[in-house]
Amino acid sequence: MCGIVGYCGRLNAQDVVLNGLEKLEYRGYDSAGISVLDNNILKTKKRAGRLENLEDALKDDPFTGNIGIGHTRWATHGIPNEINAHPHLNSDGTISVIHNGIIENYGELKDELLSKGYTFKSETDTEVIAHLLDFYYKDNFFDAVTNTVKRLKGAYALVMLCQKEPDTLIAVRHESPLIMGVSKENGCILASDIPSVLEYTRDVIYLDNDEMVVANLDGYKIYDKDLKEINKKSEKVEWDLEAASKEGFDHFMIKEIFDQPKAIEDAIKNKMKDDEINLELGSFTKEELENINRIYVVACGTAYHAGQVGKFAIEHFTKIPVMTDIASEFRYNSPFIDDKTLLILVSQSGETADTLAALREGKKHGAKVLSVTNVVGSSIARESDKTLYCYAGPEISVASTKAYTTQLIALYFLALDFAKKLGKISDDEVKNVINELKALPEKIASMLKDLTPYQEIANEIKEAKSIFYLGRGVDFISAKEGALKLKETTYIHTESFPAGELKHGSIALIEEGTNVFSIATQSKLIEKTASNTQELASRGAHVYSIGRVGDKSLEKYSNKVIYVPESLDILMPVLTVIPEQLIAYYTSLAKGNDVDKPRNLAKSVTVE
Ligand code: M6R
Repeated sequence: MCGIVGYCGRLNAQDVVLNGLEKLEYRGYDSAGISVLDNNILKTKKRAGRLENLEDALKDDPFTGNIGIGHTRWATHGIPNEINAHPHLNSDGTISVIHNGIIENYGELKDELLSKGYTFKSETDTEVIAHLLDFYYKDNFFDAVTNTVKRLKGAYALVMLCQKEPDTLIAVRHESPLIMGVSKENGCILASDIPSVLEYTRDVIYLDNDEMVVANLDGYKIYDKDLKEINKKSEKVEWDLEAASKEGFDHFMIKEIFDQPKAIEDAIKNKMKDDEINLELGSFTKEELENINRIYVVACGTAYHAGQVGKFAIEHFTKIPVMTDIASEFRYNSPFIDDKTLLILVSQSGETADTLAALREGKKHGAKVLSVTNVVGSSIARESDKTLYCYAGPEISVASTKAYTTQLIALYFLALDFAKKLGKISDDEVKNVINELKALPEKIASMLKDLTPYQEIANEIKEAKSIFYLGRGVDFISAKEGALKLKETTYIHTESFPAGELKHGSIALIEEGTNVFSIATQSKLIEKTASNTQELASRGAHVYSIGRVGDKSLEKYSNKVIYVPESLDILMPVLTVIPEQLIAYYTSLAKGNDVDKPRNLAKSVTVE
């Protein structure tokens, strides 16, 4: 998703902006650009492709100046090329704008501007903003911005410059993430995410919807939606840039896979006090829980899979039925929401547009909203009634790994907390589950000691055209997560099935040599899955099974069995996903893919 950085201060704006954009590369992008007010002249440069292309272009002709904006674009309207890259300019190049989000009424606005004689260079929705700013500019940039944003429908975080007011930068946020790092010495940096500012300051202001920032070399002012000046306190960011660097690993994905033992340990520690579950502000009271008669878990992608395991866990421990839905479907599915509904949202970034929209839909109908997220201060965290943090540390690789396992931990704790408060579980059982949870980091560490089996499998499957994943019960959710991880990093077509459903159609796809991953870790279901695996093996499938240590039943029908350590059935997804993540990582490398930034994908999906 697009990354934006705006700078106003005593440092060289080009350096701060490029540095900030580098820190946002993880979000995924296909072109980059920058504008700087250089000796009162607005200068702009853009390049298709990587940020290095832009940096190279600036080497021979650098911009100097203290106010600048920069952007990495993830194409939505128009192909990824130099013309469609941001910043976008008005016709005489004196107004510059960068934008993250989507302007839904841009077609209408474009027609209006065309009829007024404006001409367009790009295919983007953003260019209408530059021309609208031009149209509304009389002698005051602030007024031009406020009149322009009144016309926009959709989602936007905007940072804008105007050559006629060369000491000012203006930013505004509506439904797209925007934060501002502030420092007396270094000035202010507006950015889509915190890593962009950490080299200059740890003091961050989280902008809310419809707030506007006007910054110059003497400082900044923040205005609310009624254009009233407001005071907002900055918050200290406690984590380090170090935590967002590769620390000697070749890629973020493998680093983040290896982070998991520690991340899970932290996730557990932060949900306990004096050996008891303590979710602090992340849960509800017994009375509040007794008043709930319907639970939904809603999320996207990997977070949705975590939510589905969460459903199994809540149902297992509380015996209360839980419904799950994909966030992009939820609000259009006419869900039954009222003030007795609990809506649980799961989102690593806390900024996913569809999940945020589901949250708002829930709140509109009176639901109580609890979010499980990794990013403190994110929109989802701020708009939820309760928030349970994952404590995974920054996750940079687009393929989610440690966020998933720590989301699972958060959801297990939530399930235990609910069950305990509602009297559905004994103290001994809680203790036992917690001991098993605490044993997971060491078990994962043991699985990370020998990586050869995963590398071998990667080499065996790298040329496959299609790979199937199957499992039963909660193993089916692990199958779905394994299939998604492999698909997004390797671009191999993968599909997941409940093992028993195969013979109702999809078994027709199995032929000599078809690769199948069969997940069989649930004690009561192992035999059943083994017999489905046999059906596949007898039709020539090449079967990789993932089973529990000591269980020999899968060997007979599998070409290879990957053994994972024993745990409680309900906790097995935390362990099962480790080989899946490693196989996805090594297969992506074997295919020569950019594993941390797979094609067409973005880390934080902030558009619908
Ligand atoms: O930030 P979120 O957890 O809300 O993101 C949800 C999905 O976009 C995300 O999990 C996506 O599926 C990952 N690329 C999976 O690895």
